[in-house]
Amino acid sequence: MIVNTELEQKGNLFPSKIINFSKDVDTLYFTAENDVVMQMRIVRDSVLRFRYTTTGTFEKDFSYAITKYASTGYNHLEIEEDNEKYIVTTSKLICHIAKENMKVQLYDVKDNTLINEDELGFHWEESYEFGGNIVKMSKTVNERESYFGLGDKPDHLNLKGKRFQNWVTDSYAYGKDTDPIYKAIPFYTGLHHNKAYGIFFDNTFRSYFDFAHERRNVTSFWAQGGEMNYYFIYGPQMQDVVENYTDLTGKPHQLPPLWALGYHQCKWSYYPESKVKEVTQKFRDLKIPCDAIYLDIDYMDGFRCFTWNKEHFPDPKRMVKELAADGFKTVAIIDPGIKIDKEYSVFKEALDKDYFCKRADGPYMKGKVWPGECYFPDFTRPEVRDWWSGLFKELIEDIGIKGVWNDMNEPAVMEVPNKTFPDDVRHDYDGNPCSHRKAHNVYGMQMARATYQGLKKFNYPKRPFVITRAAYSGTQRYTSTWTGDNVATWEHLWIANVQAQRMAMSGFSFAGSDIGGFAEQPQGELFTRWIQLGVFHPFCRVHSSGDHGDQEPWAFDEDVTDVVRKFVELRYQLLPYLYTAFWNLVDHGTPLLKSLVMFDQEDHQTHYRTDEFIFGDQILVCPIQEPNSKGRRMYIPRGEWYNFWTDELVEGGKEKWVDAEIDSMPIFVKAGAVIPKYPVQQYVGEKKIDEVTLDVYYTEGKERSQLFDDAHDGYDYTKGRYSLRTFKITGKPKELIIQQHKEGKYICEYEKFRLNIHGLPFKIKEIQLDNVTVPLKDVKASASGDIIVDKDFSEIHIIG
Ligand code: NOJ
Repeated sequence: MIVNTELEQKGNLFPSKIINFSKDVDTLYFTAENDVVMQMRIVRDSVLRFRYTTTGTFEKDFSYAITKYASTGYNHLEIEEDNEKYIVTTSKLICHIAKENMKVQLYDVKDNTLINEDELGFHWEESYEFGGNIVKMSKTVNERESYFGLGDKPDHLNLKGKRFQNWVTDSYAYGKDTDPIYKAIPFYTGLHHNKAYGIFFDNTFRSYFDFAHERRNVTSFWAQGGEMNYYFIYGPQMQDVVENYTDLTGKPHQLPPLWALGYHQCKWSYYPESKVKEVTQKFRDLKIPCDAIYLDIDYMDGFRCFTWNKEHFPDPKRMVKELAADGFKTVAIIDPGIKIDKEYSVFKEALDKDYFCKRADGPYMKGKVWPGECYFPDFTRPEVRDWWSGLFKELIEDIGIKGVWNDMNEPAVMEVPNKTFPDDVRHDYDGNPCSHRKAHNVYGMQMARATYQGLKKFNYPKRPFVITRAAYSGTQRYTSTWTGDNVATWEHLWIANVQAQRMAMSGFSFAGSDIGGFAEQPQGELFTRWIQLGVFHPFCRVHSSGDHGDQEPWAFDEDVTDVVRKFVELRYQLLPYLYTAFWNLVDHGTPLLKSLVMFDQEDHQTHYRTDEFIFGDQILVCPIQEPNSKGRRMYIPRGEWYNFWTDELVEGGKEKWVDAEIDSMPIFVKAGAVIPKYPVQQYVGEKKIDEVTLDVYYTEGKERSQLFDDAHDGYDYTKGRYSLRTFKITGKPKELIIQQHKEGKYICEYEKFRLNIHGLPFKIKEIQLDNVTVPLKDVKASASGDIIVDKDFSEIHIIG
């Protein structure tokens, strides 16, 4: 049964009058006459959890999404009542609960703005076919309200007027309107009256979100089973909403190894070994930086996971070692389908241990994937995850594979109409047995989690690197992701841009697209424009199906190769900037990309923009998304921005034409920013970094920037062995002051900073370094005129 609508159903039921209220520390219970109970937990002053039962008792509380590290605790809680309602007040929110019908209203405590209000509120329909309820919630749309989030939807950034479904689906060559696709992230942010709030509907069943589509003034969400269980997260800044959602569902458990932020090259498939070597050698010959090379399914013996095709890869350990000596980390694909083959040890073991998923009446869940008929481990069972993680021992510890790529984990099944398991398949769900209807959306997440455990164990003391295709909320704790099988078209370049931004605002920043397109083949121009965008995505990988020709940076013409090199080099220069942003993600949940609406929600011009975004905190990027362009119009957000290429200073808050021939793209840097840069390397760690360049963009005013550094791998940074430098800029008409504050115990490899100052409105007459006037010739590098100083300076005055 597909529930297509929230309202049309004839059998909607509603809570009746509240007849009882009770409180247990941070949790409040409101009981209605007809046994509906609303449980409201004060998670934080700005985060409330709402759960409803229609039977008087709640199901066991269990969630794969919510992390045990989520912050809890509030500063203020007050509960009052009058004739009509209960009034719950925290230091951020006031919540009214109507006695008559349990409807909820949420207000900003500061100025009493109504932030969110139940329309019908909680309602449900009994599910005759499956038992339980179809649980529904509807909310009133506010004046000029916009909606954002929901993971990988390939649609416009602003979701208003649309309906979406969350059901993780293998979606080869999906389009702009395809829904659902690979991920289920039932979290959105609403924005109106300059205030943002979030709703995270933590329900893993097939769910739907309707943003004023079915009814113009109503936004609703519902699921085909389980509980109405949602978190209300108040901002009022959109970034706070996303950070709080990320706090609930988890930040990445550790920083990625720095190499994982480099450029990755992939194809289905590079084989045999000589082909892999030819590709990697070509990167080095052409001097295009690259850190990772991928092995797709053809490295295996008959597509059996954890095996090798010995004809094509006679000695994988030697090959991986040789690649490593040349700076390449080898990443291998692992799928969930295990070939039914009595001679295959992984199959035999799982069968013996009873680890495969079964149908309701007992038979194994049998489905076709690349190896032919397969059985599938039940990753929702802790013992299975442990067993799976153990399978990586040889691959990681012995052979030296550095990253694992989990694919087809929706789970995808071929030649069946619904592309996945039938609904009746049973799962353990960590001791809460259930059908596939409930476990489907988390299957891939639990596979990636088990893979992560394996890498973490066998790659120790180095950090794990995992990439997954399927995901549910919380998957960002374990792995990076990509947007699946896209197509080499200009429209897909637009989609890739939207998806990476949307993933970032859905708490899953470490994401990227198959650069150039997976299906079909791009023209050199499209490939070039896509690389330009891709180097500004947290995960940067070229991948293609290989069915339609080659997609390496040299597969087009020399001009393309040159532009690709230029932009990949820029990525490598910006690694310390991206790494610092990553540290902010791991530490605070700060998204790595910010759509303009998140950057400046008070500016209404940003609410319907899709193309421009902020990479990190201070770099504004806008890809060229049309052929034959010499530039484009784009919106420059409010504030002052420097054109990255020309240093022209631009006042934002308006649209502007920006030149961008094929070897360029619109990039701007926020005035006042200090952008750290490494020298170009062919791979992370190729060179000892003696000097870090600080591109300082003058502003008349103040601005703060950061630079994080550590050993670039391993866990020492968690024990204080990191270096966090904060640069404060103060610009005056005749003086620029740069102050540095240092934190952490890590001694950085580099000794010097090279200050490259942009937009200085005066000629330098004097430089004072830590209160001592230094002769200009002693600090200025003669050729470039850059100022070279000891990395541990405290304060520099540049005086005109
Ligand atoms: C589907 C994946 O999305 C794609 O990236 C991969 O190359 C193929 N499966 C083959 O493994």
